[in-house]
Amino acid sequence: MAKQRVLSGVQPTGNLHLGNYLGAIRNWVEGQHQYDNFFCVVDLHAITVPHNPATLAADTYAIAALYLACGIDLNYSTIFIQSHVPAHAELTWLLNCITPLNWLTDMIQFKEKAVKQGENVGTGLLDYPVLMASDILLYDADKVPVGEDQKQHIELTRDLVNRLNHQFGKPDQPVLKSPEPLIRTEGARVMSLTDGTRKMSKSDPSDMSRINLLDSPEVIRNKIKRCKTDPVRGLVFGDPERPECNNLLTLYMLLSGKPRDEVAAECQDMGWGQFKPLLTEAAIAHLKPIQDRYHEIINEKGYLESILRQGKEKAATIANQTLQRVKIAYGFSLPTP
Ligand code: TRP
Repeated sequence: MAKQRVLSGVQPTGNLHLGNYLGAIRNWVEGQHQYDNFFCVVDLHAITVPHNPATLAADTYAIAALYLACGIDLNYSTIFIQSHVPAHAELTWLLNCITPLNWLTDMIQFKEKAVKQGENVGTGLLDYPVLMASDILLYDADKVPVGEDQKQHIELTRDLVNRLNHQFGKPDQPVLKSPEPLIRTEGARVMSLTDGTRKMSKSDPSDMSRINLLDSPEVIRNKIKRCKTDPVRGLVFGDPERPECNNLLTLYMLLSGKPRDEVAAECQDMGWGQFKPLLTEAAIAHLKPIQDRYHEIINEKGYLESILRQGKEKAATIANQTLQRVKIAYGFSLPTP
């Protein structure tokens, strides 16, 4: 039986942090052998809010290099850049024309992001979920590994599939395939170092709130030294009154690779002064090989470019077939060769 297909992506906006890594990429790496995987860097999504043209390309390559450095294996996975495959933008247009406007204005993430942009909300921000649906549908993906916050976008994707198949497919011959979200709860939500009730996020103005994958050991040491804790001695998982404690223990568990029970027993009588150096060393040791590999890759531009060229070719072949299927179902004339 053919392997199921997985597709996912990350936006090239600034640096990846532990939340992106532990909540997403690490899970892609662990599951990749079971699936036929496509991982893209979604640079078209990055311009849905004001962006810096001077850094977009470098940020995009950096994410692709980090995918490789984190262990994405080209024997199982294809890595490519969204804007290198024009079918993404083209399918978005075809889907736009069957998407009811209120489906988009009702999206939680749109409402949240639109508030932050104030007067300057572009049409692209509203259309973000349709572009994401195109990413998924072009590859007939079975599973889409994402964080909890993206679940609504996958539901919209499924609604679009039903609508398109109903309008343009035959009952026994659907045009597009409905994807399922793959959401891991275990360690999926990494919280801010400065507020254990908020997600670790690229958009937090304080860099002290997150550990970036490329932070130096000194920076990591300083961030953990100054992170928010509580005055209680003895560290436990899962106490709702102690969100920072739960977050830091979870980080320690994931970064050290020790089982939860072992971490719970090790830390139950500890104070923060004893725990913080342990967490620091676990973070530094876990990130060191990723950082070393990242620097090797990014300093060998030809290597990365050739991987992305192959990725683009493989992705485009599949994407163009799906696009063609949709155009035929819509009734377009096709250019004669
Ligand atoms: N919106 C996703 C996020 O912010 C990124 C993304 C874009 C994505 N296209 C995708 C994720 C397709 C999965 C599949 O995390």
